[in-house]
Amino acid sequence: ERTTNPPVRRPADWDAERLRSLAAEYGTPLYVLDPDRVRQNCERLLGAFPDATVDYAVKANTTRTVLETVEQAGLGAECASAGEVRRALDAGFPAERVRYTAVNPPAADLDAVVDWWREGGDGLTVTVGARDALDALAERGYDGRLCVRVNPGVGAGHHEKVTTGDAPQFGVPFDRADEVCTAADDVGEFVGLHAHVGSGVSGEDLSAHEVLVARMAMLADELDPAPEFVSVGGGLGVPYSRDEPPLDLESVADATRDAFDCDARLAVEPGRYVVADAGILLTEATTVKETEETVVVGVDAGMTTLLRPALYDAYHEIRSLSGTVDGDDRHARDPTLCLVAGPVCETADVLGEERVLPAPERGDLLTVGTTGAYGYEMASTYNSRPRPAVVTLDGETVARRETLADLTRLEADGDDDGTRGA
Ligand code: LLP
Repeated sequence: ERTTNPPVRRPADWDAERLRSLAAEYGTPLYVLDPDRVRQNCERLLGAFPDATVDYAVKANTTRTVLETVEQAGLGAECASAGEVRRALDAGFPAERVRYTAVNPPAADLDAVVDWWREGGDGLTVTVGARDALDALAERGYDGRLCVRVNPGVGAGHHEKVTTGDAPQFGVPFDRADEVCTAADDVGEFVGLHAHVGSGVSGEDLSAHEVLVARMAMLADELDPAPEFVSVGGGLGVPYSRDEPPLDLESVADATRDAFDCDARLAVEPGRYVVADAGILLTEATTVKETEETVVVGVDAGMTTLLRPALYDAYHEIRSLSGTVDGDDRHARDPTLCLVAGPVCETADVLGEERVLPAPERGDLLTVGTTGAYGYEMASTYNSRPRPAVVTLDGETVARRETLADLTRLEADGDDDGTRGA
């Protein structure tokens, strides 16, 4: 049964009263997550790809709440590290639905994953992107399910830094794929092919995606033994600004199916699409300053809370919950051109430039939209800024706020000498 595309969740669609009360209760900066929206996004994916395996790229948001929601919806888990595999297993994903994509895998990751596989996780699949990774697994006695990541030679994405398909560090070269798949079947059981075009692919231009899918299907049909499945990666984009149309999932699915002319089972592994619009970030204006060029709104969230604007010049919609420029007379204020900046000592610490906000005041509550994917996940403690809390829309704690004591915990204990990586 196919679903139609329901309207995308925009920042304005969140219940402002509810957000205000969460900010009052938990403080800011605060990530708010709506598990119902995560569930709906999973259902839309399963509806659009009824004959495919749908795995969630857990790197987009690895919180237990998200993982349990996605597991219950029936998706699998695509994991980028031993840590992600551990989280997926702990959240209840059966090993049969867990795939570990080993990109230049550190020895400690392979040690851990092979241990878990031996302890009863024999349904687990490991994806290798280099002959060496295969040898490293064989040295550890691994003879389980193996998938080979291939470099498809085409890339796409919202930024060059996340365009992986044509970057040499990902996957075995296309013309060596045959040989590595045969080697994989000698080491263990060769079950799948994998490729990933990049992240944040626009629905307006699916050409790179289609080329990738067609190339992988062609390769799959030539291989002996033939793969059970072909994962054509993640990358489904979501709209971040009001001008961007939502991705038409049905047409992406149709284009994928059309290009996927082979006998293997299709697999997809979106991350962003599952969680991006299920999250919003709340931040308080701590400083308002008029300058010649603009009004600077200093807020308590910055690049350590949400790295995407600093790292990729990514756009996230910023709204004020304290004032309006039209409508509600009680809160109406003059539209004002603002620069929204965080508390970190770098010029990069800007969440939004040239944003029109209702004339800002100290203490205003702002929302930063579409931050469920790669938001909390990429938070850091640079400048000794504790990481924010994450709560659900219902007010349940997903992750507590880090404290100053948490920041020095690793130095204070001194039990571990730090010689092992994992
Ligand atoms: N599969 C593989 C092998 C990947 O490397 C990725 C993302 C995905 C799936 C999921 O891609 P998605 O569906 O989420 O686009 N931090 C960046 C995104 C980096 C994505 C890296 N790989 C950002 O904030 O835009």
